[in-house]
Amino acid sequence: MPAKLTILTNGSIKVEGDFEVCDPQGGVFNVAGKPAVFLCRCGQSAKKPFCDGAHKTCGFTSEVKASA
Ligand code: FES
Repeated sequence: MPAKLTILTNGSIKVEGDFEVCDPQGGVFNVAGKPAVFLCRCGQSAKKPFCDGAHKTCGFTSEVKASA
């Protein structure tokens, strides 16, 4: 399955399918075997670039609706 990114309301970005997560130098994060990962978009995670649930307590809000 090609990579699919879902921007979650008031939360992270869910990435699933065929993907890899790299740093700017091309290093690859070890996410082997994970069917999905969640990327932080609130900026408060202690595990960036991954979500650690901090968005639930930091007041982050972001309604998401795709537009054409
Ligand atoms: S989106 Fe979950 S900790 Fe930032």
